[in-house]
Amino acid sequence: MLVLGIETSCDETALALVAEGRKVLGTQIASSLASHQRYGGVVPEIASRAHVELLTLLLERVLFDCGLKPQAVERIAVTRGPGLSGSLLAGVCAARALGLAWGKPAVGVNHLQAHLYAALMERADWPLSAPMIGLVISGGHTALVRMEGIRRFSLIAQTRDDAVGEAFDKVAKLLGLGFPGGPEIERISPSGNPKAYRFSVPRMKSGSSLDFSLSGMKTAVLTQLRGLEKGPSPVSDQVKADLAASFQRSIVEEVVMKSVEAARSHRIGRLAVGGGVVANRLLRDRLSEVCGDLKIDLAVPSIGLCTDNGAMVGGLGYHLNPDAPSSLTAVPDLRVEMN
Ligand code: KG4
Ligand code: ZN
Repeated sequence: MLVLGIETSCDETALALVAEGRKVLGTQIASSLASHQRYGGVVPEIASRAHVELLTLLLERVLFDCGLKPQAVERIAVTRGPGLSGSLLAGVCAARALGLAWGKPAVGVNHLQAHLYAALMERADWPLSAPMIGLVISGGHTALVRMEGIRRFSLIAQTRDDAVGEAFDKVAKLLGLGFPGGPEIERISPSGNPKAYRFSVPRMKSGSSLDFSLSGMKTAVLTQLRGLEKGPSPVSDQVKADLAASFQRSIVEEVVMKSVEAARSHRIGRLAVGGGVVANRLLRDRLSEVCGDLKIDLAVPSIGLCTDNGAMVGGLGYHLNPDAPSSLTAVPDLRVEMN
């Protein structure tokens, strides 16, 4: 079955044609990132307008590249949430219109579940019904979930304040780097000393002990930076690289430690990870090292499937029950465990 996946939850307009939930025949992606850069973050109105302008063009391109006509599409899958409401609506309205025009069923997909499915898409050896731990770390969300395959998700832990990607973005901004901050921190970190500074995370006193709290780490970077700025000379690029590398190391260790602890406490030997931050090389390396040592089987998406994309939506949409296109809705605050 050929599914058209549509993703517009934030600033990326992404479409993909996916066969049988795994085989990606073609993808198109465009980002309004450049228009947001001077504001230091995504401006919702700009993002939704860009989706409206780009969707039809990208649809024509993906069909053309695959040499297919619209009639070949058998189902439409679209991100229904979580995300920016205007952005989600642009995708959902496009899916409703296409479904009605082509006479094809449609299905709304949870963006966070799709990030986790991206890891499974490339692991045909994992039964899709097996118990596993899922870690989603993106710009807006951070969650550890217990998954019974891909249909049931239950929340184990989440962030009490900043999402992991958000922490990268905020620290990059403090250091005068561009947006999004994750790739910028990763770019300058190799020239810094990751042990120059220690940025530890407070332990949780209440609630799930695996919950994340990352705003303190960001404040610690800020305090360190302000102290250095009071010194006799301006803060050098070397010091900035040391701060970036030390922050990256600390946050990666925190994420890896919590993920393997979730696997250990739930006695589950499979860990699937997804979301934009999973593109981070140090995180990928540390996860595979630690999971290797602890004999936890790890599923990590290839880099192109970590950040927002249409393939993960088309892929997961294949496994869900479709409905009439007119029943599609956008749910900006959809939680990770909700379908
Ligand atoms: O999943 P995603 O593309 O969009 C959301 O659903 O939010 O994630 C975007 C987030 C941003 O915060 C960005 O800084 C972060 O992922 N990110 C990274 C890297 N690439 C993207 N963080 C760390 N290292 C990276 N290489
Ligand atoms: Zn995302």
